[in-house]
Amino acid sequence: MASPASSVAPQVLVAANRGPLSYALDADGTLSARRGGGGLVSGLSAALAAQPEALWICAALSDADREAVRRGVSEPGVRMLDIDPAVYDDAYNGIANSVLWFTHHHLYDVPREPVFDAEFRRRWDSYTAYNRAFAEALAEEAAEGACVLVQDYHLALVPGQLRELRPDLRIAHFTHTPWGSHEFLGMLPDDIRSDLVWGMLGADLLGFHTELWAVSFVSGAHADDERGIAEPSIPRNSGPGVHHRRMTETGWYGERRFTPVNAYPLGVDGDDLRALAHRPEVDDKLAALRAEVGDRKTIVRVDRTELSKNILRGLLAYRELLTAHPEWRGRVVHLASAYPSRQDLKVYRDYTESVRELAEEINAEFGTDDWQPVLVSVQDDFARSLAAYRLADVALINPVRDGMNLVAKEIPVVSEAGCALVLSTGAGAYAELRADALTVNPYDVTATAEALHEALTMPADELAERTKRLAAAATALPPAAWFEAQLEALRG
Ligand code: G6P
Repeated sequence: MASPASSVAPQVLVAANRGPLSYALDADGTLSARRGGGGLVSGLSAALAAQPEALWICAALSDADREAVRRGVSEPGVRMLDIDPAVYDDAYNGIANSVLWFTHHHLYDVPREPVFDAEFRRRWDSYTAYNRAFAEALAEEAAEGACVLVQDYHLALVPGQLRELRPDLRIAHFTHTPWGSHEFLGMLPDDIRSDLVWGMLGADLLGFHTELWAVSFVSGAHADDERGIAEPSIPRNSGPGVHHRRMTETGWYGERRFTPVNAYPLGVDGDDLRALAHRPEVDDKLAALRAEVGDRKTIVRVDRTELSKNILRGLLAYRELLTAHPEWRGRVVHLASAYPSRQDLKVYRDYTESVRELAEEINAEFGTDDWQPVLVSVQDDFARSLAAYRLADVALINPVRDGMNLVAKEIPVVSEAGCALVLSTGAGAYAELRADALTVNPYDVTATAEALHEALTMPADELAERTKRLAAAATALPPAAWFEAQLEALRG
């Protein structure tokens, strides 16, 4: 990737809240860098390996990151924005993770939430300012006519803001989450929803992981049109996308434009992933895990401790498996990596605690002197996760709603003995993997327990065949091709 200091302005830029690395500040003042969690960073980092001139603009996420910016420490091809910490906190925790994430994943506890009051409006202003900081940095860095690929719900307003600053640029926006149904989007105050959708429609191309999320966006925009709130989308027969022109109190604003809305289902790079999973560091972790697990079967899951990942119902299903099928007691181990995420939010801290407690309950109920039924790891340990992938006999991926879920694609590629995939209908990956997965309703704990049993007893030849087809589907659109496909559509 290009150095931000390079004299040649970049032709390809990406903008994402999270950068490829974030920093930690040791007691002695030393900065150390580590890779961030989640699918966006792994997909985008892999994609940009093939784009040596690209510039990645991201936010400083912590005091350590801000210190790195001040000391001028950075990776080549990365520019970190030092945004006022209070504004950043409002935008990231207050709006992106507490409102937009909850809206797109349908996570509200509706009798109590959401509440759109004066405090919300104040945070929304911060969200707008934080988006503007990105739009301004992109406008400043981009070469004439450059392609800018803006990522995710944190930066939904950037396309509209950037178009006003630099109409010469080609702008794409990609959403890594689902797009909320109109029922949930409809909870947002009308003017806020209009700003959000209008911000996105500032792009020349909108991308989602699945057709379902793309259709959800387009039909939501149409529904708003019918209610006379936002952007008219007439006519509707020119391919997937939205025709629009903004209506303000004083009439129509700007030219009528068409924004195509397409699905680009991000996959994994099989060769890269297998190479990563066979580094000596991972071999060591694998040996340690093998010593703990013995010759028992393994059910593996790896997630951020994220409400939408449905970790609690996954544990309940495992408990029901051990109750309904006692023959598995002592013969299976559930390896659950649930590494910390968004711990500034109380609801996430409480959730993490509930995951720990439930795992302890299961261990207390069924464990014996020589068998611990659940091994929970709450550390962000990528090498251990890869070792668990290699050891997996069964992968449990049961989100209530998830943009894609790359873990569902990674495990079949890496597992050594072949692995049966228990996959919920809520994962974006369901669209591509359903034929060879054992699919479950994420709320149905009993059905999930039965699917785990079926997975554990799958005949070896069927397991091998299914794993092969899952791995082929998982690697159909690796990150570099995923990125290139969007660039081509943007340039085309
Ligand atoms: C999801 C989002 C990403 C985000 C990741 C990790 O995959 O789509 O944008 O980076 O979660 O979440 P965090 O809040 O730690 O960046």
